[in-house]
Amino acid sequence: MKEKVEILLSEQEVDRRIEEIAGQISRDYAGKEVHLICVLKGAVFFMCELAKRITVPVTMDFMSVSSYGNDTKSSGVVKIVKDLDEPLDGKNVLIVEDIIDSGRTLSYLIEILKKRNPASVRLCTLLDKPERRITQVAVDYTCFNIPDEFVVGYGLDYAQKYRNLPFIGVVTFSD
Ligand code: IMP
Ligand code: MG
Repeated sequence: MKEKVEILLSEQEVDRRIEEIAGQISRDYAGKEVHLICVLKGAVFFMCELAKRITVPVTMDFMSVSSYGNDTKSSGVVKIVKDLDEPLDGKNVLIVEDIIDSGRTLSYLIEILKKRNPASVRLCTLLDKPERRITQVAVDYTCFNIPDEFVVGYGLDYAQKYRNLPFIGVVTFSD
């Protein structure tokens, strides 16, 4: 099978939209500090670009989660592969995610993080595929809604490849 990647959102479009969202976040958190939590690995590129453009004080932490196998997936349980380094007490937490698909990972993660006594928890995503939602999750900041297609680039992978593409592309397969 040969893979081909076609541009869906150019680097300029993505960067421009991140700038807008960062402006909105900076206004919403005026007078406060925001604690960004990057969901590894897909959200790394997005979080760096977002953080550079936020004008209120920013702190950052990183977390890695993986879904359990298909049998238990419907329960929405995710395993914490790498936990945060810092406690969340009193912090204004903003989870930064690459893409929301079924919504299972994030709805579970939000519940876990809310138990750690933060002042607030909000969610920011680069991409959203609303058609694919199984578990409802409240998204506070969305850069782009996209159709139900498999996308790569700007941190997103197919079999761990293409994360370094500076744009968002759709992967298609041919013989
Ligand atoms: P869900 O919302 O729990 O179904 O899981 C979302 C996760 O699935 C994302 O964080 C990605 O790791 C992965 N994912 C979903 N759609 C795509 C895609 O189009 N490209 C790359 N990864 C995807
Ligand atoms: Mg992810």
